[in-house]
Amino acid sequence: MKVEPMTGTATIDPSARTTPDAGRTAARSLGDVVVLDAVRTPFGRAGGAFTRTRADDLVVRCLRELLRRNPELAPDAVDEVAIAASTQTGDQGLTLGRSAGILAGLPASVPGYAIDRMCAGALTAVTNSAAGIAAGAIDVALAGGVEHMGHHPMGDGVDPNPRFLAERLVDGSALVMGRTAENLHDELPHVTRERADAYAVGSQQRYAAARAAGVFDELMVPVAGRAEDGGWTLVTADEQPRPESTVEVLAGLRTPFRPHGRVTAGNAAGLNDGAAAVLLADAGTAERLGMAPKLQMVSYAFTGVAPETMGFGPIPATRKALAKAGLGIDDIGLIEINEAFAVQVLAFTDAFGLDDDDPRVNPYGGAIAIGHPLAASGARLIGQLGHGFAAHPEVRYGLTTLCVGLGMGATVVWENPHHHDASTTIAAGAST
Ligand SMILES: CC(C)(COP(=O)(O)OP(=O)(O)OC[C@H]1O[C@@H](n2cnc3c(N)ncnc32)[C@H](O)[C@@H]1OP(=O)(O)O)[C@@H](O)C(=O)NCCC(=O)NCCS
Repeated sequence: MKVEPMTGTATIDPSARTTPDAGRTAARSLGDVVVLDAVRTPFGRAGGAFTRTRADDLVVRCLRELLRRNPELAPDAVDEVAIAASTQTGDQGLTLGRSAGILAGLPASVPGYAIDRMCAGALTAVTNSAAGIAAGAIDVALAGGVEHMGHHPMGDGVDPNPRFLAERLVDGSALVMGRTAENLHDELPHVTRERADAYAVGSQQRYAAARAAGVFDELMVPVAGRAEDGGWTLVTADEQPRPESTVEVLAGLRTPFRPHGRVTAGNAAGLNDGAAAVLLADAGTAERLGMAPKLQMVSYAFTGVAPETMGFGPIPATRKALAKAGLGIDDIGLIEINEAFAVQVLAFTDAFGLDDDDPRVNPYGGAIAIGHPLAASGARLIGQLGHGFAAHPEVRYGLTTLCVGLGMGATVVWENPHHHDASTTIAAGAST
């Protein structure tokens, strides 16, 4: 497999990576980082099927499944477990990466840690792990996230510093994500409620088609949850999707974040319980183990934007990540963007000159249909992009991107290892 470095860095021969002296590892780059597998739980509605399922057990299920279906990887070959959650108390406390690793049956020698960047938690777990792999500090990592929004409602237990408001560091709306989405509509009057609702219906339809085609079968692992009769059952499907959605019905929904607003339960992600995780390694280790990469990292970037309009975040983050890769948006054949709100996706597509129903964007549906258990979603996006890469060898590059609370954006650019013409090099310095 060709290993494409980030701009200006020489490609390293995998066989030359480990020097015999002092255990030193020869230089790697982000281009040496590959995703070998990704899995998520079904996403439940907060207060739904996972009401009696522990948050940590959701992410443990993902880790165990990754180990089960990748027997080439000895558990003690995992160098790090990085698990994100936005709320880190109760069943999401106790340093999740470490506690989930032990609960998943990893040997005591495998370390782990907890991580938080709200909605980009899992993506940050992945980029931190990738940076560790690129630096040669680790070879194999499990990275992911979990959010049980039923057990931990958004903002629960948070005590924002009063100076935020007293010193007008942010507007009060910045702390309520739905209100930031209304602010986005204010700044983008051409993104009407009608456009947002139409986008939301499209997401539901794409999800329904993908589900019928079996796309999620390999991306999901069933988890024990509450049955309708009050007993226990195996939860095998997402709870939130509403494939019957129509623009006519959505137009009649109330706007909970502002009287006569534009953001509704129909064009926003819901409140969900779920977990997702990915298996990362350096390309040389993957090759030695005989494991085929699903995605290869190219570049990543995080940026800050005004907290009151946090939905703008993916735009500068994507520009920055593309610039680092020396790529433009026209080079990107698949985009997995988290749909916190339809308006935030449309802000992104407008900024990059894409149609509202561009087939490259969320081809299997997005969070409006699937759900958005905050810190888990980044790993879900990676799984779906990996599926898209395998299904579309004509696509060479794709990206995963999310907006983040308190005004941030997160983007990772990926290369498709299945691409049938991976011989051309990335042009350095191409504009976005
Ligand atoms: C928008 C939000 C407040 C809605 O919460 P909710 O009121 O509990 O949502 P519900 O699922 O009960 O939906 C509300 C109503 O809309 C209806 N509805 C929702 N989606 C619908 C759809 N696609 N089609 C038809 N009706 C729909 C529901 O049936 C319900 O109707 P009812 O009031 O008659 O029972 C909540 O989902 C939310 O806060 N989302 C954003 C989460 C967020 O901020 N995440 C972080 C992003 S950065």
